[in-house]
Amino acid sequence: MKRLVGKTALITGAARGIGLAFAKAYVAEGAKVAIADIDSARAHQAAADLGPAAIAVEMDVTRQESIDTAVSETVSQLGQIDILINNAAIFSAAPVVDIDRADFASVFDINVAGTLFTLQAVARHMIERGGGGKIINMASQAGRRGEPLVAVYCASKAAIISLTQSAALNLIEHGINVNAIAPGVVDGEHWDGVDAFFAKYENKAPGQKKKEVGEAVPYGRMGTADDLTGMAVFLASDDANYILAQTYNVDGGQWMS
Ligand SMILES: NC(=O)c1ccc[n+]([C@@H]2O[C@H](COP(=O)([O-])OP(=O)(O)OC[C@H]3O[C@@H](n4cnc5c(N)ncnc54)[C@H](O)[C@@H]3O)[C@@H](O)[C@H]2O)c1
Repeated sequence: MKRLVGKTALITGAARGIGLAFAKAYVAEGAKVAIADIDSARAHQAAADLGPAAIAVEMDVTRQESIDTAVSETVSQLGQIDILINNAAIFSAAPVVDIDRADFASVFDINVAGTLFTLQAVARHMIERGGGGKIINMASQAGRRGEPLVAVYCASKAAIISLTQSAALNLIEHGINVNAIAPGVVDGEHWDGVDAFFAKYENKAPGQKKKEVGEAVPYGRMGTADDLTGMAVFLASDDANYILAQTYNVDGGQWMS
């Protein structure tokens, strides 16, 4: 039986990678999906590939006007928003002595403020509508502990775990469940960039860092975007009604909590 029939979802950063895998999985479970991304061309292509259950919405999570427009466009085209996945984020890395303010501001603007103010806009819609909802924030194993070259991104994902807890405690009175998913290392374009960074800073051959992190995963390999979809469907479904404020590790056994 399909688990998300009659539901509509807004997924940020869904033009590629993990967000796109979530959009595909939600459509397969019977949901309608808004693929919201700053990369409008790719969002439109993804929606066209997914068929009539998907629409593309141009959205920059760093701009309040863009957040508000994306939410109202989604509501006017799909009727409502039952599920939000705050997935858009960027990665950044540097030795602590090389971190610059512009990079810090950009990571926190997209990863943290983008998540908070998209969550706020969608929560307002859900409260006004009165039907509750499900909100899933994308954290990371990077938010569970620091890493020597990844201070800013790790801090941004720790903030997501904390925001998830506070928002969940505040919004459950409206029937809105807020939870988070913490992936480990997931192969794709995001990790192509991470690999290139470590090739530069640790003097590794291209692909070497991916090989090393994959071998260090207890499950025995890097994750794929599809490895995460089961948790994203579960947290959006009625089976998760009694669950809030949690961050679930979906990481092949890398972090135990
Ligand atoms: N890939 C991993 O190993 C991994 C691990 C842990 C957590 N995560 C998290 O999972 C999520 C998805 O990761 P991914 O690997 O698919 O990343 P990705 O880089 O492949 O995709 C990110 C998407 O966000 C979009 N985006 C960037 N800035 C935006 C903005 N200002 N407004 C709207 N959209 C914007 C990009 O265009 C892109 O489509 C992120 O939150 C990431 O931090 C990823």
